[in-house]
Amino acid sequence: SDGLTVLGLETSCDETAASVVRLSAAGAEVLSSVIHSQIDDHAAYGGVVPEIAARSHVEMIDGVTRRAMAEAGLDWSALDGVAATAGPGLVGGVMVGLSYGKAAALARGLPLIAVNHLEGHAVSARLGAETAYPFLLLLVSGGHCQLLEVRGIGDMSRLGTTIDDAAGEAFDKIAKAMGLGYPGGPALEKLAASGDGARFELPRALLGRKDCDFSFSGLKTAASRLAQTCETEQDRADLADAVQKAIARQLAERSERAMKDYAEAHEHRLFVVAGGVAANKTIRRTLEDLATKHGFAFLAPPMAYCTDNAAMIALAGAERLEKGLTSDIDVAARPRWPL
Ligand code: KG4
Ligand code: ZN
Repeated sequence: SDGLTVLGLETSCDETAASVVRLSAAGAEVLSSVIHSQIDDHAAYGGVVPEIAARSHVEMIDGVTRRAMAEAGLDWSALDGVAATAGPGLVGGVMVGLSYGKAAALARGLPLIAVNHLEGHAVSARLGAETAYPFLLLLVSGGHCQLLEVRGIGDMSRLGTTIDDAAGEAFDKIAKAMGLGYPGGPALEKLAASGDGARFELPRALLGRKDCDFSFSGLKTAASRLAQTCETEQDRADLADAVQKAIARQLAERSERAMKDYAEAHEHRLFVVAGGVAANKTIRRTLEDLATKHGFAFLAPPMAYCTDNAAMIALAGAERLEKGLTSDIDVAARPRWPL
């Protein structure tokens, strides 16, 4: 048949996900995308508990995968490969999806593709629109905050990264200090909608530095302290708005620096933002305005593919398979795995 059809599995954090994607000359087509979120299992603890996550992945992975195959309307014989996240992430969870993927590949005689979770986020915008390489990427999730030059699958270089917390981690920790529960990003965005942050002065990190690195720990400390002074719901909404704007501003400042360098070396100017934090509407809008100002086209994945999902893993797997970049069946899970 036309193109490559790949099953993707994602179990690196608190989502058990499976998806079938077909990659052809026409682009990427998501045939199914099933996500079982464990948010309810972890909410009482204010964050993801690795042991609970791993156990839940064990319980869910088979059912979630069967559903993804059924919703795609495909028999296993229609697949060209099985892709699974092999890291970075919580190693207990990664091992569940990777082992299941190995077993499925062995049983069906299919190639196995071990996928770096970050590479999945990096290609996720291609799930929603035709996206030609190369592009400048801001990857903002719960575990990562990086600017990357993406030339193709398996061909990326890092321009900057966070020296302390990731952007999503800053959202989550500040939200926790404000009593907003887990995950904090979406809750903080909702609260910010009725706030006006102008009354709060928050620190700006790494001002004057010439690189593209990020830092959120000063903001986290200052905002957590201010959270203790909030008395009314309006106070809290105002603080949420101030925090969201401060994070958006830092992301924009560092992206602007990267855009200027990138524009000197590239005719084709495309800026992509991906990862869970890319679901934030204020951040999307701020970055889109910035891209337009600097002559870049702008792209963000559809909302459903910003936060963790398996469609992005299936697509990265298909792109790797197309290039012959398959994995040995004894490939190991990697809790740390920089791009
Ligand atoms: O990509 P992702 O699902 O998982 C990781 O690979 O880390 O990102 C999750 C992160 C969490 O920190 C969450 O709070 C944040 O993305 N997030 C948001 C929003 N939705 C998710 N942050 C701000 N605004 C949102 N709407
Ligand atoms: Zn992620």
